[in-house]
Amino acid sequence: MFGSIARRYDLMNTAMTAGRHHHWRRLAVARTGLQTGGRALDVCCGTGDLAFALYDAVGPAGEVTGIDFSQRMLEVANRKARTRDRPVNFRWGDATALEFEDDRFDAVTVGFGVRNIKDIGKAFSEMARVVRPGGRVVCLEITRPARQPFKGFFGIWFDRAIPVAGSIISRNRSAYSYLPSSVRRFPPAPELAAIMTDAGLGDVSFRLLAGSIIALHWGKV
Ligand SMILES: C[S@@+](CC[C@H](N)C(=O)[O-])C[C@H]1O[C@@H](n2cnc3c(N)ncnc32)[C@H](O)[C@@H]1O
Repeated sequence: MFGSIARRYDLMNTAMTAGRHHHWRRLAVARTGLQTGGRALDVCCGTGDLAFALYDAVGPAGEVTGIDFSQRMLEVANRKARTRDRPVNFRWGDATALEFEDDRFDAVTVGFGVRNIKDIGKAFSEMARVVRPGGRVVCLEITRPARQPFKGFFGIWFDRAIPVAGSIISRNRSAYSYLPSSVRRFPPAPELAAIMTDAGLGDVSFRLLAGSIIALHWGKV
């Protein structure tokens, strides 16, 4: 499914969020505590936008790796890395079985990715494993607003408008019908914080953005 939407994925993100997703990515990077020269991993990197935001934080002296299990997403990410002159190391990998040694990174991020993973706890314990003590794991996700008027907006926008936009822009209605149903299945922000804590992260906190449609979580190793 992700392979089939890779080519138009960035355009859909911009259309769905009116371009705001770049701002949310920068807020996520700010929560990593990364410094110039740091080492970061972005899991479920897709077409690489969060990894590029990490690269902007650590600079050429740092190191950013992005992993994803869709080759077509990785092809788009690699093309962007070349044209934008941001040498991020994009490679194939499974978020629930990371191939990196313990304590390898200063921070790990995941953007709009864990919602698609069956065993979320396993994904977070893998992310925590590869971060050094004191480093951070940061998660950016779509979430269901609990209160009106955002709850009503969510119903109209995600359940109705996005599948139609997906079929026009991406020519893939089913992938963009999957999106609202995956958000509905996904644990609300306090439950996700509890899952992160159970996975071994400390001081887990979250902030809701964009009228509580976006959740930004972070925790310390
Ligand atoms: C909605 S996209 C998010 C892409 C990107 N992180 C972003 O912020 O736009 C979800 C991505 O997660 C990837 N993915 C889902 N499950 C995965 C897993 N277990 N391991 C690695 N990648 C996975 C998909 O291939 C897809 O590229």
